[in-house]
Amino acid sequence: MDKLKVIVAAATPEQRDETLRLLNSDKLQIIATINPDSSGLNKAGFAPADVLILASDSLDNKETDFIERLYMTRPGLVNILITREKNADILQRALLCGIIWVIDLADETENPVETIISVINREKNRQAAANNCSLVSYASEVMAFFGTKGGVGKTTTAVNMAVSLARLNKRVALIDLDLQFGDVGIFLDIAKADSIIDVVEENDYEYSTLSSFLFKHSSGVRVLCAPSAPEYAEMVKPLHIEKILSSLRSEFDYIILDMPPAFNDISIAALEQSSEIFFVINPDISSLRNAQASISVLEQLNMGSKLNLVINRDGFSNLHRKDLEDVLGRKAVLALPCDYKNAAKAVNRGIPLALAYKQSKVAAELSKFAQRTVEKAKTPESGSWPAISIPGRRDKRK
Ligand SMILES: Nc1ncnc2c1ncn2[C@@H]1O[C@H](COP(=O)(O)OP(=O)(O)OP(=O)(O)O)[C@@H](O)[C@H]1O
Ligand SMILES: [Mg+2]
Repeated sequence: MDKLKVIVAAATPEQRDETLRLLNSDKLQIIATINPDSSGLNKAGFAPADVLILASDSLDNKETDFIERLYMTRPGLVNILITREKNADILQRALLCGIIWVIDLADETENPVETIISVINREKNRQAAANNCSLVSYASEVMAFFGTKGGVGKTTTAVNMAVSLARLNKRVALIDLDLQFGDVGIFLDIAKADSIIDVVEENDYEYSTLSSFLFKHSSGVRVLCAPSAPEYAEMVKPLHIEKILSSLRSEFDYIILDMPPAFNDISIAALEQSSEIFFVINPDISSLRNAQASISVLEQLNMGSKLNLVINRDGFSNLHRKDLEDVLGRKAVLALPCDYKNAAKAVNRGIPLALAYKQSKVAAELSKFAQRTVEKAKTPESGSWPAISIPGRRDKRK
């Protein structure tokens, strides 16, 4: 029998060491030890594990929140609690957050390794039975267009990318996560629509319910709009974002996130859930300095490997693409030229460039990028994005 792959989550080194000692067995393979917090969540989100063992005697709110987020995003991962305080209160909170078994360390008759194996076998059998009944399972590519500077072109790229992918017959959802000042509705001339607040108030994340809040744009893109006023933004919590993404993942090929120009608990939760982050910058010193600081934060949050550079208004200033790439230590995967006239007309008409001005250079580059995105999905083994090959002015001089 293959060894079961285990992640151990513990808040203190003592608990971690004790748990590792207890789980020392040739039937288990410990593939990661993490803290039950957002950095641990990020690691656990990608580790190919069968089971997560949380060691805790208190199961505090931070830990239940951690498990609940894993439960929503990694349905195949079995969550088990190891504790010396197996009481009714802990049991109830464990069940509510998604822990399916509690091992009592105070009970000397219990063999933790054998219990874990039998719980996992039971759970695997149950999942196999459920999968036999299910139809097709899709896993969307979640693409976040982010940048911590206002006005650099996040919404322009997100909206036009969504429309360009829809033109390639892909099923696309576009979510406006700029919860205070989101303007996807303006870019798409959506006069009145439900918003993410309606979803949160309904508190039913089944796709059949959630889909009724998605605006059907003529391009085929399904849009979840931002709240109608900034004061509603705080009603949305990170867990809502995870539940929404979790529900949409099985229904769409691509989920495009238009992000706010800031790090906050919502944007970090969304970035953690994204498959790729497209960090949008402009060729000016202020944008570059801002990008340097933000990219360093994203790297500290272990998101560096899914971070891609997008240069908008390329060629507009004496800061050339190569200068930007050299300073930031990454090649751009997309560069869009400056086109004030068409960009402004598109927003004013509420028709994206990719529909109203298909011949414009910005629309053409985005269309090519959408095609590359689809091609990349067909060959996932190709790994990271190839850098763009169009030479910048500085390159030509060489
Ligand atoms: N390549 C471009 N050339 C010229 N104008 C552009 C270009 N890209 C975007 N714009 C214009 O710049 C303005 C800001 O763009 P956009 O709203 O996409 O930025 P943003 O990063 O989403 O801003 P915010 O941080 O406020 O959400 C818009 O008026 C848009 O039409
Ligand atoms: Mg925006």
